[in-house]
Amino acid sequence: MPSERQITIFDTTLRDGEQSPGASMNIAEKMEVAQALVDLGVDIIEAGFPIASPGDFEAVRTISQNIRGAVICGLARSSDADIDRAWEALQYAERARIHVFLATSAIHREFKLKMDKDEIIRRAVNSVRRAVGYCPDVEFSPEDASRTEVDFLCRVVEAAIDAGATTVNIPDTVGYGTPAHIGNVIRTLRERVPNIDRAVISIHCHNDLGLAVANSLAAVENGAGQIECTINGIGERAGNCALEEVVMALRTRHDHYGCTTRIVTPRLVPTSRLVANITGIQVQRNKAIVGRNAFAHEAGIHQDGMLKERRTYEIMKPEDVGLAKTDLVLGKHSGRAALSDRAVALGYHLSAEQLQTVFDEFKRLADKKKEVYDADIAALIEQEIREAPETWVIAGYRLIAEMGQVPTVTLSLKRGDEEATEQVTLGDGPFDALFHAVERITGVEVVCRDFNVHSVTVGKDALAEVTVEVAHEGQIYRGRGVSTDSVQASVQAFLSAINHVAAHLERSVKPPAPQVGSKA
Ligand code: KIV
Ligand code: ZN
Repeated sequence: MPSERQITIFDTTLRDGEQSPGASMNIAEKMEVAQALVDLGVDIIEAGFPIASPGDFEAVRTISQNIRGAVICGLARSSDADIDRAWEALQYAERARIHVFLATSAIHREFKLKMDKDEIIRRAVNSVRRAVGYCPDVEFSPEDASRTEVDFLCRVVEAAIDAGATTVNIPDTVGYGTPAHIGNVIRTLRERVPNIDRAVISIHCHNDLGLAVANSLAAVENGAGQIECTINGIGERAGNCALEEVVMALRTRHDHYGCTTRIVTPRLVPTSRLVANITGIQVQRNKAIVGRNAFAHEAGIHQDGMLKERRTYEIMKPEDVGLAKTDLVLGKHSGRAALSDRAVALGYHLSAEQLQTVFDEFKRLADKKKEVYDADIAALIEQEIREAPETWVIAGYRLIAEMGQVPTVTLSLKRGDEEATEQVTLGDGPFDALFHAVERITGVEVVCRDFNVHSVTVGKDALAEVTVEVAHEGQIYRGRGVSTDSVQASVQAFLSAINHVAAHLERSVKPPAPQVGSKA
């Protein structure tokens, strides 16, 4: 193997990641993530599974039409209809890839597909050929490859390459592999498949045993040239291989792997934040690379070592993953230019109007809180750029709550010039009562599926960030609120979810049916 290989990064946040419960995104959100992935430097964006739903189709088509700078990929089962539909969505892409998959393991053959081995090979070959008829860049995945008999896996891979597959992806679909096992599978394919040099070997690991990153690295060590991964490791069940972790492992241990990627690593934290804010799936504090504690040194002995020489306890520089060099504190005397610099350092590009709004919010916050940290600024910016349509806004609330007693809430909301106030005495607690009051005023009833409060930074005066997920007529909507007052942040979050529902309802109001005799 040459000593310096460039590993292709195939991001499937918008397909495998989005498939996980609670991670669904609308088209505008998918477009935002797709652009962020281009800025991050990923080589291939798997934008969706076009036949899965009209929404998925639209998302892949819109991304193909508008996003430039990466290959756009769409998933298809090994069926003509799937492949045709995938191409219909992908045809506009600057560079397109069709990703065809078919399960190959004994358990899938017997129980899911009810096909024998020869039939699987026939089906795989026909599908790859059909996809090649549309575009030259075709990836084939033998689903559940890690549990497939290795001799049969070699046969399938050889047949797929002969049929025109330019990438053969080896999925550890159920996260069953271990590093030695996955390394062995890749090595065996390289040794036994005669035409293997005509295709790139890819690895796709799920994280059921917490080994997705380790398994992907083992695959690279044994010759894989592409890694499939997602931002923050989101995905089915325990998720996929986390892009930020695998990329930083390759970079930090370049001495060992001898591989590079095209990833612009200072974009890792901003992209992670973007995906977390859009999906509402926050990363755990101690998550490698992008977790809040990933570069925090608490222990006195560590802090002492760090002051003497940073490398005593730090193997990566925070700025290399997109954390500002110093968590520089801004305060009420800081000006707009300082805030603007900080926003750029955090990876945001704000219009003059957005900067002004964030600056006004920043000044209000700095009045309440002596020190404003990067995380506070990022939270204010996110609030501004991800603002829901402001159908209703909070005008004020009064809350009387006592342990063991039914709370009383008086809530006022504004819609344009109109103000409505509702007083309710009900619910299991103050938040329940507030949410009931919001529903009464807006006339929109939802089921609250998730309600999360966390502090953006440390200290009693920290900003509270609240995320809410609600269901309305089978659709999921999310809302977010940020304030030093956690009750206000909660109402804001609930209200922004309700505003999304209201906007959706307004959009779906059908025009009146044409009158008899009128022109269409
Ligand atoms: O995990 C899996 O097997 C997949 C395939 C469709 C590649 O996501
Ligand atoms: Zn998968």
